[in-house]
Amino acid sequence: ASTETIASTLLGWYDRHARTLPWRSPPGMPAPAPYWVWLSEVMLQQTTVAAVKPYFARFLDIWPDVGALAAAEESEVMAAWAGLGYYSRARNLHACARAVAERGGTFPDTEDELRKLPGLGAYTAAAIAAIAFGRRAVVVDANVERVVARLFAIDEPLPGARKAIREAADRITPDERAGDFAQAMMDLGSSVCTSRDPKCLLCPLSHSCEGRKTGNPASLPVKAPR
Ligand code: ADE
Repeated sequence: ASTETIASTLLGWYDRHARTLPWRSPPGMPAPAPYWVWLSEVMLQQTTVAAVKPYFARFLDIWPDVGALAAAEESEVMAAWAGLGYYSRARNLHACARAVAERGGTFPDTEDELRKLPGLGAYTAAAIAAIAFGRRAVVVDANVERVVARLFAIDEPLPGARKAIREAADRITPDERAGDFAQAMMDLGSSVCTSRDPKCLLCPLSHSCEGRKTGNPASLPVKAPR
């Protein structure tokens, strides 16, 4: 199938099957606030959706906007983060909140400008640009990596395969709704195109999937020998 068909098929699936998550707005509704997207994406980087939910709610309760978070003491933010792990994320979060407050409390709306904020990496910049600002950006996390490796039967081992995976993700990312597209890929990866047990019979992209044609999609992506 053409790259356009892949994107529109997946977006149609997302309109029907998107997970309802506290940091999302439903398909067709206005985008969530950049603060919400930023906070949730930082929390989700090394932590599961189920574990993040109560922390996300509590942070918004205590610090409803980025200015409030910037005004907090670092120790308070660290205390609220306790239990989520990878504590450098909390320290970076607070430093980044202060940098955003310095510029008047609004997040920059492009990937390049977002990248200039302290501790804000390539993944988070792409996610905020696409999800909060409707920019075309290529958002690749581990779920997306797996879906793309299978869709195009990319059988080079990771991490070497990352370049080819990113290029393929770029080719299928639509100009419109890139944020929904990214989150659709994440949902597909977490519920259908799962690591051990891909449910190809439920997959909206099964007819376009080169990995499925190989007969062993679960073997992709290939992990580096160690
Ligand atoms: N994991 C990381 N970001 C996510 C998002 N926006 N939706 C669902 N899972 C995610």
